[in-house]
Amino acid sequence: MLDVQSIRQDFPILARKVNGNPLVYLDNAATTQKPRQVIRTLVDFYQQHNANVHRGVHTLSIESTDLYEEARAKVQRFINAPVPESVIWTRNTSESINLVAYTWARANLQAGDNVVTTAMEHHSNIVPWQQLTRQACAELRYIPVDDDGLLQMDAAANLIDERTRLVAATHVSNVLGSITPIHHLTRLAHSAGAVIMVDAAQSVPHMPVDVQAIDCDFLAFSAHKMLGPTGIGVLYARPELLDAMPPFMYGGDMIIEVTYEDARWNDLPYKFEAGTPNIADAIATGAAVDYLSNLGMENVQEHERQITEYALRRIREVEAVTVFGPHDASLKGGVVSFVHGNIHPHDLGTALDRMGIAIRTGHHCAMPLVRSYGVVAAARASFYIYNTKEEVDLLVDGILEVERYFAHAGAK
Ligand SMILES: Cc1ncc(COP(=O)(O)O)c(C=O)c1O
Repeated sequence: MLDVQSIRQDFPILARKVNGNPLVYLDNAATTQKPRQVIRTLVDFYQQHNANVHRGVHTLSIESTDLYEEARAKVQRFINAPVPESVIWTRNTSESINLVAYTWARANLQAGDNVVTTAMEHHSNIVPWQQLTRQACAELRYIPVDDDGLLQMDAAANLIDERTRLVAATHVSNVLGSITPIHHLTRLAHSAGAVIMVDAAQSVPHMPVDVQAIDCDFLAFSAHKMLGPTGIGVLYARPELLDAMPPFMYGGDMIIEVTYEDARWNDLPYKFEAGTPNIADAIATGAAVDYLSNLGMENVQEHERQITEYALRRIREVEAVTVFGPHDASLKGGVVSFVHGNIHPHDLGTALDRMGIAIRTGHHCAMPLVRSYGVVAAARASFYIYNTKEEVDLLVDGILEVERYFAHAGAK
């Protein structure tokens, strides 16, 4: 199990106060805090190694290139990708999905085809497919979610058919926390001759993910949700698909030869990394991967399961609260979204912030899903390696205090 108290020592921000109270950070699905090891790696890069990659013969450029490629190899091992060339650095999950949309999908979608996604996607995994299917005169289909917040797999089996070219599904919902039966979905996609893209923004940071075991074709995630910096993300793809895909961006580094008339593309992964990449943040992502690997992803997942189980129980003790998504912590990631019958989520979030408690409120970039619950906004507490049951208690005490305040204000 995790030694949470010693982990907390690695996160300088957890020592600060917010509005006079110790910070209780429960907005980890939006972005996580960064340990000293990641911050130190960033500073060390700029102080000791800074130079452009892949271009120089001088020492700093060689060091910088080695560190950059080492970080790629760390990510490769972390998700068990077969080769480093199957790991493309992008800016974030959104860019990784757009890369697939603008290259693979543009080249492969035709009129009458369909793309199958789910009703519990982040906008990042809806909007690109809306655009691409519209352009191609193809259809976009949604696998529904049942009353417990779980994907209806029998509906998935009907929606995926011989005209399905792509299944694009989240691995873990950022609103409900529900875990997609991803092996099952991959089998359905492949048996229909389709490829599958997994939005792993909420899974890679929180549980062991093995792209070869899942057998997915594409997988996307962001470093900032797993202790790493903002502005850097990953697209994993099968090398044979990447080989056949046209580039996403054109310019320096992604070419092997340019004439006045034409250009030839560089080898993988560079074909998809035009221009000077986000070198420092890629290297710091390697440090984040080291940190998580040292903890062990099974331990990370088990810690979050325990906190989530406790949070589900404690938050549901508040009578006026309705929790969305599965109530069984073993079926979900560390996300608890809820509404309070008498307090608007924004009021709740603002009042909790006065107590130093950071939660998310709003549509969580999943408007269609949140609206399907008959609300326009929800509150969300999301957990990570440094959260404790005591912080869950502070959240529940905070909700009860806001409740008392509103009851009192209403009685006046
Ligand atoms: C499931 C899911 N997909 C995609 C994203 C988009 O990630 P990013 O903003 O880093 O591109 C998020 C971010 O909250 C997410 O939770």
